[in-house]
Amino acid sequence: MAVHLLSGSRLPVAKSINQSSWEMGGTLVREALERSGLDQVDAIYASSMMSGELEGQMHLASLIADEAGLSGVEAMDVSSVSASGAAALRAGYLAIMSGEVRSVAVVGVERMSAGDANPVLRKALHAVREADKTMVLKNADALALYLKNHGVAYESFANFAINAHRNGARNPLALFQKEIDRNKVLEARVIAEPLRLYDCSPVCDGGACIILSRSDFKAGPVKLTASACATDRFILEDRTDPLDFLAARRSFQKACETSGRKTQDFKFFEVHDAFNIMACLCLEACGFAEKGQGFRLAESEDIFPGGNLPVATMGGLKARGHPIGATALYQAAEIFAQLTESAGDNQLPGDKIGPALMQSIGGAGTTLFTHFFEPGADL
Ligand code: COA
Repeated sequence: MAVHLLSGSRLPVAKSINQSSWEMGGTLVREALERSGLDQVDAIYASSMMSGELEGQMHLASLIADEAGLSGVEAMDVSSVSASGAAALRAGYLAIMSGEVRSVAVVGVERMSAGDANPVLRKALHAVREADKTMVLKNADALALYLKNHGVAYESFANFAINAHRNGARNPLALFQKEIDRNKVLEARVIAEPLRLYDCSPVCDGGACIILSRSDFKAGPVKLTASACATDRFILEDRTDPLDFLAARRSFQKACETSGRKTQDFKFFEVHDAFNIMACLCLEACGFAEKGQGFRLAESEDIFPGGNLPVATMGGLKARGHPIGATALYQAAEIFAQLTESAGDNQLPGDKIGPALMQSIGGAGTTLFTHFFEPGADL
């Protein structure tokens, strides 16, 4: 028995979508269901970080079920700040593996434009001890520490953004569809020293959905071969080494243990590049680079579509966009598109259609989800 992906649906990411998150969710579930060949699912798991605070709406999964014409179904909200979509995906995986349900629609939605998203974003941090911090400031601190401790120049990170925007330019659903060059990255305005504009993901709206199924109920073209979650000390500065993404390594290792996969097996990586420093630390944590060397995979263009380990193949959080609670479902739906060779102008070459890795980060490297995908249906 295994968990398969039957289909996916995605909305174009935009600065502002003029629809409630539950209307977006209803449309996405209906679309994905239609493509799956199923008439209904046994459960709907929904993720959003902000609908309660910015749209005054909690209890989202049941409302999305109703919008999709599926009232009566099991429905549950799943949340883990910026990794909410991955938490919902893991809930779907666990529900199917337990034998309790045969099929699940996992849907993520976010309308950051519905109010001021910044005070909500910072609630991922410690309410008392990090009261004067934001996600931007935490990542600025991490980048500054990395550059200092490893003696690396800021310029060495530029290719993370150049690759993401290159891929975003070919993705009609991406927020940013324009390539950028090195000068643009290096001359961009400073957001919080040393972070500049292109080191950060944007604030935006979006939604995405995938349909999971138990392989002996309905087989699909893509397998979800592992799902794992791990945590680290909550506050970055409490960790023995703040530049060692222990939760990323732990969740990656757990997923390797259950699936029998190892670092060298992976053909591409949908990385959580909410900030370039996060992408770099995840590459190191999963063993693609030695500690303090992750930036070299960007410098050498190994992360580009023609490189050894393409990352952010549809633009990543940086250029496709990071509508928080929806993001991991975009990542999963994009992997589904790559593995079913329907990624359009972003399609990776045939030799890259193999095991794919996805990581999703909650907070400043605190909660990490790792998921593995592979092509092909075996029963
Ligand atoms: N990358 C590239 N361009 C960006 C951008 C980004 N991350 N964010 C905004 N822009 C562009 C806008 O499209 C706009 O361009 P235009 O003038 O051509 O329309 C311009 O910059 C100004 O946009 P604005 O929204 O006013 O920028 P801002 O200064 O208010 O916000 C950031 C910029 C980086 C501070 C904001 O995007 C941000 O807070 N990002 C991080 C969000 C976050 O913490 N997410 C959670 C991570 S876990």
